[in-house]
Amino acid sequence: MAHNVVLIPGDGIGPEVSAGVRRVLDGAGVDIQWVELEAGAATIEQYGTQLPDHVVETIRKLGVALKGPLTTPIGTGFASANVGLRKRLDLYACLRPVRSIPGVKTRYENVDLVVVRENTEGLYSGIEHEVVPGVVESLKISTERACRRISEFAFNYARKAGRKRITSLHKANIMKMTDGLFLRCARETAERFPDIQYGELIVDAASMRLVQHPEQFDILLCENLYGDIISDLTAGLIGGLGVAPGANLGETCALFEAVHGSAPDIAGRGLANPTGMLLSACLMLDHLGEITAAERIRRGVYHVLEEGKHTTRDLGGTAGTLEYADAVVAACQE
Ligand code: NAI
Repeated sequence: MAHNVVLIPGDGIGPEVSAGVRRVLDGAGVDIQWVELEAGAATIEQYGTQLPDHVVETIRKLGVALKGPLTTPIGTGFASANVGLRKRLDLYACLRPVRSIPGVKTRYENVDLVVVRENTEGLYSGIEHEVVPGVVESLKISTERACRRISEFAFNYARKAGRKRITSLHKANIMKMTDGLFLRCARETAERFPDIQYGELIVDAASMRLVQHPEQFDILLCENLYGDIISDLTAGLIGGLGVAPGANLGETCALFEAVHGSAPDIAGRGLANPTGMLLSACLMLDHLGEITAAERIRRGVYHVLEEGKHTTRDLGGTAGTLEYADAVVAACQE
């Protein structure tokens, strides 16, 4: 039976990488009925919002979505539709697996870690105001419920994925209450999972350790802001934003998207690397129970990257988005 999946191509390079991903999934014979919906810049004029209600409702109904990046103006303008989607669908857990890719040259080998990021609160609560002219305030909200459920998610995920160690990243030396609550919940959860080692690191020291010895890390458990920053850092360990996948998971819905943004500097030129979205689509196929298809596509991706003949410019190659996608389709059929 076909899987019904919402596809949001998104802004900037979004439509280009989405076209590449569709080509690979269709080429690999996965039976997906795509429900393509616009969100982002394309809907502002018609609906007056980046995130029309019918988009949220359709994802809620079908339960699964694959999304390209959405542009958010910096400093002024409307609130992030990405944050809006995560909050409205209660996609509380963001999962970003980072694994060295054969053939993609970086400074590191043997990186194999997962960032688990709390996705709904912290400084992303978006509650900001001007106290008096020249003084503004942004509230960091932490709740016991959200801290506890992201900890439980991380420990359950560790068990399921056969991972051994969780490290909480924090700044509880400064933010004693908010990050203190996060750590208390993680420690209490850790007591119920004696088979998983648990440790903590201050996020700045962790950043240094990550660029010196990334192979020492397994699962990084982070509140929202640290998880956002650390996952770009960890994407850099394996070849950059073009190759890093992600998933936003809740109790009833799942939304899969690459770590990267809309890359306005290269948009519209057919140059973008679709690997991040493609590997996100593989996480989606795992979620849908299409494990064999997911593995076949991953093998195709790794084969093309290792061979190095059809890689995109961010990885030192000359291929365009669709040439790379076609090479992956061919490799999946070998
Ligand atoms: P970005 O990730 O769009 O780009 C950063 C750099 O990485 C650029 O040089 C870009 O060319 C390169 N890059 C990114 N993805 C690539 C790909 N697939 N292939 C090749 N090169 C790639 O980050 P930036 O410029 O900070 O953000 C641009 C916009 O995207 C902003 O409006 C931001 O809010 C939004 N954004 C959206 C996200 C989402 O929808 N989940 C996530 C991150 C940013």
